[in-house]
Amino acid sequence: MEADNLVNTERRMLKVMLTDATKVWSLSDILAACDWQDQAIAVGAGLGLTDKGLTQLSETVSTEVKLGAQGQSALSEGLLEARLWDWYKSASEPSMANLQQSFARHEAGPGIGLLKKLGVTMTDGSFTCVDEAKVSEAISARQDFLAKLPQIVSDLDDDMLNHFKSRRNFIEFVDSTTRTWTLTPEGTSIDSNLLVETTMVNEITPELLQSDAWKDAEFRRFDVTLESATPRTGRSHPMQSLIERIRHIFLEMGFSEIVEDYVQTAGWNMDALFIPQDHPAREMQDTFYLDNPKSMDLPKDLTDKWSEIHRTGGDTGSTGWGGDFSPETSQKGLLRTHTTVNTIQYLAENPNQPCRMFAVDRVFRKEAIDRTHLPEFHQIEGIIMEEGANLQMLVTTLKTFYAKMGYPEVRVRPAYFPYTEPSLEIEVKWRGKWLELGGAGIFRPEVTEPLGIEHPVLAWGMGLERLAMLVLGLDDIRQLYISDLEWLRNQPLI
Ligand code: PHE
Repeated sequence: MEADNLVNTERRMLKVMLTDATKVWSLSDILAACDWQDQAIAVGAGLGLTDKGLTQLSETVSTEVKLGAQGQSALSEGLLEARLWDWYKSASEPSMANLQQSFARHEAGPGIGLLKKLGVTMTDGSFTCVDEAKVSEAISARQDFLAKLPQIVSDLDDDMLNHFKSRRNFIEFVDSTTRTWTLTPEGTSIDSNLLVETTMVNEITPELLQSDAWKDAEFRRFDVTLESATPRTGRSHPMQSLIERIRHIFLEMGFSEIVEDYVQTAGWNMDALFIPQDHPAREMQDTFYLDNPKSMDLPKDLTDKWSEIHRTGGDTGSTGWGGDFSPETSQKGLLRTHTTVNTIQYLAENPNQPCRMFAVDRVFRKEAIDRTHLPEFHQIEGIIMEEGANLQMLVTTLKTFYAKMGYPEVRVRPAYFPYTEPSLEIEVKWRGKWLELGGAGIFRPEVTEPLGIEHPVLAWGMGLERLAMLVLGLDDIRQLYISDLEWLRNQPLI
C-alpha cells in the first residue's frame, strides 16, 4: 500500500494515529487530533483506511436512555409527586379540598394516584401516611434516576426504567453506534513523513482540461473494483435494443426498411410464393386463420395468374403443381406466418426497380410453447433484387450481417422452400456448435414471373428470438417475454 493512494482526509487521520500506534481511537479522539468538526469526515476517512487495510474499525451499537420532554420539565420544575409530597408535609391540613386549591386540576388528579401508589392513604377527605421516610426515599430515587440521564440502557435499574416507561414522554430510547479505530500492522508500517496533504483533483472538468493546470495536478484514485450501488434507470427491453442494432446494420449496408401489417391473405402469404394450396403448413394446425376478416378481396387478374402458375407453370417452363386452384382459398384472412409475405408484395409493387429491403417484424404460427418455440415471434427478413444478383452475393451478405452481429463463423447448407431455388439454411457457430438461424434462397421464376419482376431476387428470413438467445446467452426463449424485472435490469447493453 502506498501513501499516495490515500485521499487527504485519510492521510491526516493516518498520520494522527501513527503518533500513538497502539492506541484505540474513539471518534472524539480523532476529531480533536485531526482538528475536524464534522463527524462524517472522520467516519469517511476511517472507512477509507479500513477498506485499504490500514485501520481496523470496531463498531458497537448500544441503546441510550435519554430524557423525553416530560422528563426534562420534571427535572427543571420538580417531579409532580415530589411537589405534592412537599405540600403534604408542609400543609397544616393535608385534605383533598386543600390539595385541589394548591394544584391545577390536570396535576391534582394524577397526583393523588401517584401518592397513593407511594403509600399515602386517604380517609374522609384527609391524607395520612404511616412510613414517611419510605415515601421520601422513593421520590428522591426517581429524581436521581432522571438527573443522571442520558445513560446506556444496560447500566440502568430495571424497575426504575419500567416505571418511567409507563409515564408518557418521560424517557426515550435511542440507538447509537460507538466507533473506535486501531492501526493494523500494515497501517503501522506506513512512513508518516509520506503522509503529506496535497491538492487533489476529484473530477475532470472541461475547465481543467482547457487550462494547463492538469499537468501538475494530483488525481484522486478510484478503486473500480469496490462494490457500489448500480444506478437503475429506464432502458430499452433487450429485444428492442437488439432490433435497433439489426436495423442499424442493415441501414449501414444500404438497405431500406419495410413495415407492413400482419393481417394478410393466404394469397400473398402462400400462393404468391408458389406454396401449393394443399401444403400441410397451410392447415389450421399451423396457421392462424382469421374470422374477421374471414376473407379479403384480391384482384381477379392476380388470382388468375397464380392459378395458372400453380396448375400448369404458365410460361416459366415449370409444370406447376397440377390439380385445382381455389381463388377463395387465396382470399382467406390470416396472421402472416412469415415476413416474406411483405417483401413479395413490395416486389410486386416495384417490379422493375432494383432494391435492397429488410424487415424485422412479428409473425405467427400455431406452435406449442416450449423452450425454443413461441406462437408469436419475429423474423429478420430481407431481399436484394438487382441485375446479376447471385448465390455468392447472398451468402456474402448473410455472412457480413452475422459478422457485424459478432458471429463471424457462418455456413450454409442446402435446404428446400417451395419459393426458392437454390434454397439454403443458414447456420452460425456458437459455443462450438452449429445452430440453424434461418432460411434463404433465390426466388423461383414461378414466384417472380407472374409479378413481372425482372431481376434475380435474393431472399432470406431468419429467426430473431433464436439470435437473441445467442446474444443474451439464454437456453429458454420464454425468458425474453416474461417481464422478469430482476433479469431485465441485469441484461448487458446490446
Ligand atoms: N420464409 C422462410 C421461413 O419462414 C424463410 C425464407 C425467406 C426462406 C426467404 C427463403 C427465402 O422460414
